[in-house]
Amino acid sequence: MCIVPPAVVIASAKPYPGRPLLCRKCTCDILSYDGRPVKTTAFIHPQCLACPARQDDSAGETARRRCAVGKVVAALSMSLDGFVADEYDSVAPLFGWYQNGDVEVPSADPRWTFHMTEASARFLRRALTECGALICGRRLFDRTDGWGGRHPLGCPVFVVSHSIPAGWPRGGSATTFYPDPMAALDAARAEAGDRIVGVSTPTLTRLYLDAGLLDELTVSLVPVLLGEGVGFFDTLTVAPIHLSDPQIIAGSGVTHLTYQVMR
Ligand SMILES: NC(=O)c1ccc[n+]([C@@H]2O[C@H](COP(=O)([O-])OP(=O)(O)OC[C@H]3O[C@@H](n4cnc5c(N)ncnc54)[C@H](OP(=O)(O)O)[C@@H]3O)[C@@H](O)[C@H]2O)c1
Repeated sequence: MCIVPPAVVIASAKPYPGRPLLCRKCTCDILSYDGRPVKTTAFIHPQCLACPARQDDSAGETARRRCAVGKVVAALSMSLDGFVADEYDSVAPLFGWYQNGDVEVPSADPRWTFHMTEASARFLRRALTECGALICGRRLFDRTDGWGGRHPLGCPVFVVSHSIPAGWPRGGSATTFYPDPMAALDAARAEAGDRIVGVSTPTLTRLYLDAGLLDELTVSLVPVLLGEGVGFFDTLTVAPIHLSDPQIIAGSGVTHLTYQVMR
């Protein structure tokens, strides 16, 4: 049986029906979030102390976290001069591409439906279908009021904050809170399995980039110069970070650039 510290299990994401914690590398039993053993083969559990992948891992915690199957992908819209929000914290000048075409893309929440070009729709459908968990910081969570408890991507949300906001967690909402960004990542990976873990704020993107834990970076580049605002890559502590050549999807009013982070 995989040896999962009970405290870690309890601090991790809630169990979701049909999604027990699974470990592909050990192909053995692993404790589910309610503490019962579950037979599993679906993904490498990042907290499995007995996992051969982890034991072979001489590079320690970072490599252990990388051993999970799902990719960690940061995806944000950015102005040509490097801002992800304007000086008033608004993304309005950057989000025009969500509603500038006639291809309807429903989100996971009936309150939000997008109308965009076919190219942008192709890009967005990947996020809608492949994202298994989303990590955000407290500022974005507060600005959106936690998306009313349900994110348009339809996946559980893992919020990094030193405190839990009043009124949360809420029944019926797959939103959980973590004071430690690495615990949030572990829990998000456990939830997502072999699906993508999305990172949705600049602060956490930089943090996971610095820690060598980001696999992919997607910039939806908007042809506008904001002059000032919230920078995407302002305070990287580890640089340079080399990226692959981008996969390019040219939309209208936006170019979606997907880079692999080189290690
Ligand atoms: N263009 C786009 O696609 C896009 C998408 C999303 C967001 N945005 C923009 O991005 C901005 C929000 O992102 P942000 O990076 O400024 O803030 P953020 O990541 O949403 O939130 C920062 C907060 O997260 C918590 N946090 C961060 N690092 C932590 C750590 N190491 N340990 C514990 N807690 C930590 C802290 O909350 P506590 O103080 O509560 O501890 C911190 O104040 C907004 O302007 C938003 O409009 C743009």
